[in-house]
Formats: sequence, structure tokens, C-alpha cells
Amino acid sequence: MIRTPAILLSLVVVAGLSQGAAAADAGQGGVLAKRWCAACHVVAADQTAVSGQAPPFSTIGKIADLDVGKLALFLLLPHPKMPDMNLTRAEAADIAAYIQSQGK
Ligand code: HEC
Repeated sequence: MIRTPAILLSLVVVAGLSQGAAAADAGQGGVLAKRWCAACHVVAADQTAVSGQAPPFSTIGKIADLDVGKLALFLLLPHPKMPDMNLTRAEAADIAAYIQSQGK
């Protein structure tokens, strides 16, 4: 009985997280991608090429085992060759949804 509140709490947290993922907004992600990622990545079809070795989002979006969850997680972790952009979880989910939409 004493453990019930903790279990309920973690259920609420899990539900909250998956809700956040479901509410991911690819349109908003595109705005963020153009602001934060376009210096190194080609983030949209109408963008001219960038210098450097960063893969275009249309390529990243086609990686089969890269689902929105993994992408969002990747974006929250510091990346060796990428600056830590301090994105919020919601922003990361939006960008992940946008990248996926570019791979279609
Ligand atoms: C300063 C340049 C730079 C910026 C800014 C940048 N990236 Fe990158 N990114 C890179 C480079 C370079 C790589 C390739 C890294 C490697 O091969 O180790 C990469 C790799 C990635 C990968 C992994 C691709 C794979 O094959 O695993 C993802 C996903 C990614 N970037 C997303 C983003 C997103 C989203 C943003 C904006 C929020 C962003 N990047 C901003 C340079 C950048």
C-alpha cells in the first residue's frame, strides 16, 4: 500500500512523456531546425548545400531504425561534433518529427 503513490507517480510520468511525443509538431520542428541546425545540415529541400560533413536531414530521416524517440533522445545528449543546443524535450521531439517528415 505504501508503494502505491510511487507507482502511480511513475505511471503519470510515463503517460506525460508519451503524450509529449504524440503532441510533437513537425511544423514547429522545421522552424527550430532552420534556426539551430541549418548552419551545418541541409534541413529542407529548398536549402542550398552547406559546407562540412553533416548529413542532410532527408538522409537522416530515412535511417530505418531511427524513430522519433531515439532522435529526440540523441538531440538531448551532447554530441561530440555538434554544439550542445540545450533543447527542451518538447523542442527535441518537434525537430525529430520534422526530420522524419523530411525522410519521407
Ligand atoms: C556545428 C555544426 C552542426 C550543427 C549546428 C548541428 N549539427 Fe547535427 N551533425 C553535425 C555533424 C558534423 C554530424 C556528423 C557527426 C558524425 O558523423 O559524427 C551531425 C550529425 C547529426 C545527427 C546524426 C546522424 C546519424 O547518422 O546518426 C543528427 C540526428 C543530427 N546531427 C541532428 C542535428 C539537429 C537536429 C541539429 C539542430 C538542432 C543539428 N544536428 C545541428 C553537425 C552539426
